[in-house]
Amino acid sequence: MSELSFYRNPTDSGREDPFNATIDNVSKFVDKEIVLRGWVYNLRSSGKIAFLQLRDGTGIIQCVADIKDVGQEKFDLLKSLTIETSVVVKGSVRSDTRSKIGFELGLKDFVVVARPTEEYPIGKKDHGVAFLMEQRHLWLRSSKQVAVLRIRAEIIRAVRDYFDGRGFYLVDSPILTPNACEGTSTLFETPYFDEKAFLTQSGQLYGEASAMALGKIYCFGPTFRAEKSKTRRHLAEFWMVEPEVAFMDIYGNMDLAEDFVEYIVQRTLRNRRMELEVLERDLAPLERVRKPFPRIKYSDAIDILNKNNKPANFGDDFGGDEETVISQQFDRPVMIHHYPLAIKAFYMKQNEENPLLANCVDVIAPEGYGEIIGGGQREDNLDKLKARIKEHGLPEEAFGWYLDLRKFGSVPHAGFGLGIERTVGWITGVPHVRETIPFPRLLEKIYP
Ligand code: 4AD
Ligand code: MG
Repeated sequence: MSELSFYRNPTDSGREDPFNATIDNVSKFVDKEIVLRGWVYNLRSSGKIAFLQLRDGTGIIQCVADIKDVGQEKFDLLKSLTIETSVVVKGSVRSDTRSKIGFELGLKDFVVVARPTEEYPIGKKDHGVAFLMEQRHLWLRSSKQVAVLRIRAEIIRAVRDYFDGRGFYLVDSPILTPNACEGTSTLFETPYFDEKAFLTQSGQLYGEASAMALGKIYCFGPTFRAEKSKTRRHLAEFWMVEPEVAFMDIYGNMDLAEDFVEYIVQRTLRNRRMELEVLERDLAPLERVRKPFPRIKYSDAIDILNKNNKPANFGDDFGGDEETVISQQFDRPVMIHHYPLAIKAFYMKQNEENPLLANCVDVIAPEGYGEIIGGGQREDNLDKLKARIKEHGLPEEAFGWYLDLRKFGSVPHAGFGLGIERTVGWITGVPHVRETIPFPRLLEKIYP
């Protein structure tokens, strides 16, 4: 492989081989010659010096080309390049205190892989979001979007590490399902051979079966809701992680939720500080995300709303505005528990002392980012569950297998679902969930 080969060695980490370096690892190669592969992010020149901002997915580095080092011909070629030209560059790494990353590259040589065939549609000027969403496949290359996606990847890794490190088994739930989990109004229907099926709204019901087999499990995958509303918190396709634990009650569930959320936030702060800075995220509210989180009853939440000019009565469900008012009373995530049974899903466990309440919990993120977790204890009594299925107008025959879990060694059990996009939105400070997933699926929007 020649030095300026178009191809990287994909099995090398970028840490050892100087011909296979990446921008996030240049500190390993100070005063040494390396090869980087990437795209022109920006270019300017003055006289006999040109400055190329190169991006390679791991970062952005300034490459300084002196006509003396690269020769007249290459210098002219460099100056002619436009944004998003793909290039392979060779140069030596220099410490530079003025640089954001602490280093720059003294350019020695480069080759062009491909020039854009037309002008890059995303420029320096402020584009509207509608335009950027149409260009989502290119918009992803901009530094803010890259930072969000790196943080998303970190959060997903934190989720997996958290559960894998605490005796939970990953058990994936199916995506094609014969019945609803979270109400029949947001189902995506799809043909399934000669029958019809639905895209899953939640892996929970299968998670419960898996927990009866394996004790502590989590499922983690895409979930689907035909949400007819346009809000900054709703996607038609989103990722949810759902732990489910046999022999756990609502209080154990809250302990798990707060420990889990603290872990994700603190680890992201530790490992993705640079990206949070690119996004100009205020870190103080994230630093405060420490156990214990405040726990309030639904009835306390109603009082808070009434005291803050948001009239509310027992039986009302909370939307984004209500969640924001409630979250503003606290400096960290707040857990609201024991909602009215009547406004919750069919599987929620009825409270032992007050039959009007469910043993459930929602976790509301601070700073107005809304509900990130919904969950609770599950109804483990066969007759009560049957009655609930009927009340909700659900077909009992479709739930035969689910009722079996209450026939054969039924145990108290609980779990929750955390929405990845809402969590990414909160941690990154991005106000709309459409920027927290690479290719968002929104009401009547499926391009690109
Ligand atoms: O509160 P939800 O509907 O709960 C469930 O689906 C339970 N079955 C989970 C469980 O107990 N295993 O959804 C859980 C979370 C919400 O708190 C939110 O973070 C996210 O999933 N979520 C959405 N995120 C983006 N777009 C949507 N349309 C969402 N709907 C729910
Ligand atoms: Mg919910």
